[in-house]
Amino acid sequence: MKIEIFELERRQSLWENTVEYNLTESGIHPFTISELLNDEQIKQILNLRLGYGQTNGSIELRESISKIYPNATLDNVFTTNGSAEANFVSIWGNLNPQDELLLMLPNYMQIWGLARSFGVNVKPFHLKEDLEWQLDMDEIQKLITHKTKMIAVCNPNNPTGSIMSLSNMEELIDIANEYSVWILSDEVYRGAELDSKETTSFFGKYDKAIAVGGLSKAYSLPGLRMGWIVAPEEIAEKAWSYHDYTSISPSVISQQIATWALESNTRQKILTRNRKMLNENLSVFQNWLNKRKHLFDFIPQKAGAMSFVRYYFDMNSTLLTERLRKEKSLLIVAGDCFGMDNYLRLGIGSEKEYLLKGLQRLEEGLEEFVNA
Ligand SMILES: Cc1ncc(COP(=O)(O)O)c(C=O)c1O
Repeated sequence: MKIEIFELERRQSLWENTVEYNLTESGIHPFTISELLNDEQIKQILNLRLGYGQTNGSIELRESISKIYPNATLDNVFTTNGSAEANFVSIWGNLNPQDELLLMLPNYMQIWGLARSFGVNVKPFHLKEDLEWQLDMDEIQKLITHKTKMIAVCNPNNPTGSIMSLSNMEELIDIANEYSVWILSDEVYRGAELDSKETTSFFGKYDKAIAVGGLSKAYSLPGLRMGWIVAPEEIAEKAWSYHDYTSISPSVISQQIATWALESNTRQKILTRNRKMLNENLSVFQNWLNKRKHLFDFIPQKAGAMSFVRYYFDMNSTLLTERLRKEKSLLIVAGDCFGMDNYLRLGIGSEKEYLLKGLQRLEEGLEEFVNA
């Protein structure tokens, strides 16, 4: 099977550890183990037996995950290695070649590339900038057919950081319901809302919803590689049988730490720390942009650590980001990775000093390349 190159991940894999300033991260500055755990928990980790553990996720872990979704029980939950694997088994397990998938763009392009490699007919619909990155339902009505099996959304969205309005959600559910199609909702940024109002999950609102989540973004724990699916029981069961062919099980260390991270007090502490960082860093970035209004347009994100900006100078986004990497040791994501030239995605979730220095490099690059 031929695959399409996943440009965004490929560029991160190649360069993120070789540059001085990496502003491609869509997550928030990660925790260390000692910042997260108390002495007793660290002792328990040291004595943890390194078996396979429960391969669909321990009972405690699945219970903690179920508590953050309305009307979910542990039988609705299936755990994976990262939300990337949750997306993978959801597409692999629920779609066949020639099925139609309606996919929200712009998006984290994993489902785009993966489904197309599996021979699925992927039909994009778009978040509209002039609607502040909301959906135009007429576009979806025109695309959906009786061959459509699934609608895939990313909410909160990567890269725009927008959150779907409740009316958009309800209208989308009505359309999905009329054609009896699944909604696969990648909600890995849920919990990272700047105004602290948690995004409504599609799970609990629609019977045929598969919600994907994980600890990499809103919880700042990407190194645990902890993701999950919350779905009707038969879908969670099915995901397990596909997962037997991928990685069998998430690590027992990650399962244990994830269970503690999701305990209600710890979870609140994590989310509060992250929202504070996000708000502070977003104002740093907006101050920076305000001095360059003639070059950029920006609808601030509602959630997540990525800022998606449109620029008005004449330079291809891949060319610009390549020059920034090579000449300024700064990595940022080109709009081309989302099929949207003239945009840049900047990760603002790092420590403030680091962000300021990264922006300084961008400033230097712009002065040299754009004014040259
Ligand atoms: C929307 C979205 N889904 C899934 C992933 C994969 O993340 P992870 O596997 O670390 O949970 C990412 C990573 O950037 C993402 O942005």
